[in-house]
Amino acid sequence: MVFLVILAGGVVRMTQSGMGCPDWPTCFGRWIPPTSAEQLPPDFEKYLKTQDIDHTFNVYHTWIEYINRLLGALLGVFIFIHFIWSFKKFRKSNQQIVLLSLFLLLAVGFQGWLGKKVVDHNLAVVKVTIHMLVALLIAAVPLIIIYKLQAAKKIEAKFLKYLSYSLIVILLVQIVLGTQVREQIDEISKSLKYQQRELWISRLDDMFIIHRSFSWLVVIGAIALWFKSRTINSLQPGVLFILAVVLATIIAGLVMAFYSVPAIAQPLHLLLASILVLSVFSFSLRLK
Ligand code: HEM
Repeated sequence: MVFLVILAGGVVRMTQSGMGCPDWPTCFGRWIPPTSAEQLPPDFEKYLKTQDIDHTFNVYHTWIEYINRLLGALLGVFIFIHFIWSFKKFRKSNQQIVLLSLFLLLAVGFQGWLGKKVVDHNLAVVKVTIHMLVALLIAAVPLIIIYKLQAAKKIEAKFLKYLSYSLIVILLVQIVLGTQVREQIDEISKSLKYQQRELWISRLDDMFIIHRSFSWLVVIGAIALWFKSRTINSLQPGVLFILAVVLATIIAGLVMAFYSVPAIAQPLHLLLASILVLSVFSFSLRLK
């Protein structure tokens, strides 16, 4: 569900639907947004004035953003049920699970609140980066819960564990760098009215070069992880998966760099980067 919500967020951006619902939590003052301009409330201009992209009603942008919000809300419901359930089942036997589940609930609440702030301030930059990091945190907690419940025997490999922690840190830095590039792309694309994609990359500053070059560190980290775990059979599927996702993420980045930022590559790059850091995290959980 978290990955689906991350993907939906990427699709919102790919289609420039971010401000498709100018208000929050309602959309044009309604719980179910209009499907045509005739259904707009009489004071609809008040809403459109706050938008930076559409200055007329765009049904696609509105509904893409609305579906994104519904998925977010559904995730919230899942997490709420998760909390109630774990409270009932584990409050006596395993309070750690209950606390983790509560933390998940709080994190998703914070994310919803931040989502509102992003809308209120017209997708203000720093908040978008924090939004991304909290999304990764929300995806990480269920992994911890799963490992705790499985009570699987951890593999004794201290060096590998520190190596995987280092790769997580490298990836988080790379993700923050990536969101900086993305924020620049947002400004550049807006200034070009979302046209002339062939100019977007050439207008990026050094942050893009840093982000691109930083990938080498990711590659080196992933290869080191594979090298150090090559004698442990049970870790092979996990480490090969990590290597494949590193490759796919970089290919999606290169496609954006060399083929004028095709829209589809944007959410894909984001989704792959998220899967990547979480798969390394999941790998680290198996080690002692
Ligand atoms: C494993 C290595 C990489 C990781 C983990 C990574 C991660 C990310 C992340 C998380 C974003 C922000 C996406 C968003 O907020 O929508 C991003 C943006 C971006 N990255 Fe990477 N990236 C990697 C490698 C590369 C490479 C090699 C290139 C190009 C040569 C590249 C080009 C870009 C571009 C152009 C953006 C802006 C995308 C947009 O506007 O949607 N990335 N990256």
